[in-house]
Amino acid sequence: MISAYPHLIDLNDYPVTWWNGLLTQAEDIIKNPALYADSCKGKIMGTLFYEPSTRTQMSFQTAMLRLGGTIIGFDNPQTSSVAKGENLKDTTKIISGYSDVLVIRHPTVGAAKAAALTAECPVINAGDGGHLHPTQTLTDLLTLKAEKKTLSGLTIGVCGDLLNGRTVHSLCKAMSCYADNHFIMISTKELKMPSYIKDTIRAHGGTFEETQSLEEALPKLDVLYMTRIQRERFASPEEYETQKDTYILTTQKMKLAKPDMIVLHPLPRVDEIAVAVDDDPRALYFKQARYGMYVRMSLILTMLQSPAKTQLLYGHTHNGIFCKNPKCITNHESYLPKSFIGEETTLTCEYCDERLLLEH
Ligand code: NCD
Repeated sequence: MISAYPHLIDLNDYPVTWWNGLLTQAEDIIKNPALYADSCKGKIMGTLFYEPSTRTQMSFQTAMLRLGGTIIGFDNPQTSSVAKGENLKDTTKIISGYSDVLVIRHPTVGAAKAAALTAECPVINAGDGGHLHPTQTLTDLLTLKAEKKTLSGLTIGVCGDLLNGRTVHSLCKAMSCYADNHFIMISTKELKMPSYIKDTIRAHGGTFEETQSLEEALPKLDVLYMTRIQRERFASPEEYETQKDTYILTTQKMKLAKPDMIVLHPLPRVDEIAVAVDDDPRALYFKQARYGMYVRMSLILTMLQSPAKTQLLYGHTHNGIFCKNPKCITNHESYLPKSFIGEETTLTCEYCDERLLLEH
């Protein structure tokens, strides 16, 4: 299915040259903000935030305001007709008809792609459940480029909730497209990186190792990317209790790290980085959040100027076959075409990337 608009659902839908162009433009915006002050004059950005957000939502909003545009939207679906039972399709269709670009965050995996299917303007994925978060990754790429001066040859530690943390999924998929990056995945065995992300890293020629020890990994790292344990994505509070507080970065542990290692975090922090670490010059997570505003300015501009059409679905529906992932949007919005790619016995859901193994 080809949409008449450009959408950003997954960074890997675009070539690396496109990401690099966005970063270069963001660097120019940082240097010459006045040149861009009116570039979105008369344009409206809609923001549909079905899930809590501070940085992503407000950096998108300030990005549009700094480009001279205006904003509409909700940050609590319970104050919209969603509370009356309106489905994603209808809300998207209406608000995209009012807007020039639509930013959507949703707790269900694949929701941004589902929204883009019927949207009447470009859609930007601002986080779909525990799946992907491409604009956080653009933020991370700009931070790495500005602070490490390279996007290649880095040893990157990702630590915390690698199962449910959408930021690390998008980050590893993207960074594996640059040469010679090595990932050290630090998590408990319950919260390991999903296999579809590891498959993508391998397919791009990236390398990785998995460990449970932050202390062992620290001396090897050029970048440490900390994440919080995603309490809201656990099946029960008891399961969360067994996982929380496993990894806490302290000033003591920072002594094990290289003098030029940088610490990033998409934020919000719960307690996985002790507040005292903030004073370490290697702690760059607050600076990182500011880079996010500039890269989103660059993205909004690009989406509004692009004439591209986006192919959203490549595969096929199969009689009687549906995605087995209860968190997939196709199991919440029943009208969606249940589209799969791949072989007859191994199908991959095009919304959530879950693989189905079918027995004959
Ligand atoms: C992250 C998110 O929402 O996925 N935050 C963000 O967008 N900066 C990380 C998180 O919630 O842990």
